Amino acid sequence: MKELKVQPIKDGTVIDHITPGNALKVLKILGIEGRGDSIISIAINVVGKRGRKDIVKIENRELDSNEVNKIALIAPNATINIIRNYEVVEKHRVVVPDEIIGIVRCPNPNCISNSKEPIKPKFIVIKRQPLRIKCYYCEREPEMDIASLII
Ligand code: CTP
Ligand code: ZN
Repeated sequence: MKELKVQPIKDGTVIDHITPGNALKVLKILGIEGRGDSIISIAINVVGKRGRKDIVKIENRELDSNEVNKIALIAPNATINIIRNYEVVEKHRVVVPDEIIGIVRCPNPNCISNSKEPIKPKFIVIKRQPLRIKCYYCEREPEMDIASLII
């Protein structure tokens, strides 16, 4: 009972083991703004079996892995759990995609992706553990935390 901070859901998607403090950014990446009528629960900094984590629960919606893999950038240890009738019917780890388009902005102010041109920022993943990405256009490798560059 001590660990139960958020109630179980009947149907939907639970994104578990999110890097602590990143739950709101996860929602942002998924384009979930809370204006619709879907029920969303967020737990931030809860203590799980393996230390602190964030959790996001989205009821009555099964997110597909392509959609969710985008969050691997800021929550590399997250698991996606599909819940049907209170049971976990699918569980997978997020996978960093090969290309990251339109999610992270380039830190280089002179990059074409930061100009007035209608060009979506695009990064190529050069290493996964630890994560290293570089801008497709100017080849700059962000030195700062990627979470701070989320658009
Ligand atoms: N969950 C939920 N509603 C359900 C079933 C599960 O919200 N009806 C949540 C759990 O609270 C947990 C996640 O979905 O955060 C995964 O559930 P489960 O696999 O049962 O938990 P663990 O075995 O602890 O998962 P893991 O081994 O991935 O940590
Ligand atoms: Zn660039």
